[in-house]
Amino acid sequence: DKLAVTLIVNGVEQTLRLAPWTTLLDALRDHLNLTGTKKGCDHGQCGACTVLVEGRRINSCLTFAVMQDGARITTIEGLARNGVLHPLQQAFTDHDAFQCGYCTPGQICSAAGLLAEGKPLTRDEIREAMSGNICRCGAYPNIVAAIEQAMG
Ligand code: FES
Repeated sequence: DKLAVTLIVNGVEQTLRLAPWTTLLDALRDHLNLTGTKKGCDHGQCGACTVLVEGRRINSCLTFAVMQDGARITTIEGLARNGVLHPLQQAFTDHDAFQCGYCTPGQICSAAGLLAEGKPLTRDEIREAMSGNICRCGAYPNIVAAIEQAMG
């Protein structure tokens, strides 16, 4: 049977009735129509589904929505403010940090969580910290350059 789950998604409280096994990823995509968050592997291996939960990055395919009841979730749709791109979105554009773009929302959400940790990182440390986000096109040098720019 379905359970009531309340999520605060990009600042908006949403109450859904979900099967208990619904992943956060499927809740976002299929129930809230927030399709910016991508499903790559659905097994925690690619990072395409990365969102922020209470500001921390997680693979949304690896958590059930019911486990996040009451949590504040930020998706790629919630990063730009008042029509202005988030600094990471701008940096990814400036550095051509994508090719097909499928991994990009996850890359940017993951990088947003990383930046929020507030530690200055070297290029190698950024690469390591972003290793959970796979880019099949191999745009890694540009992705790292974009994150470096946003880090300031
Ligand atoms: Fe979640 Fe690949 S879809 S890690």
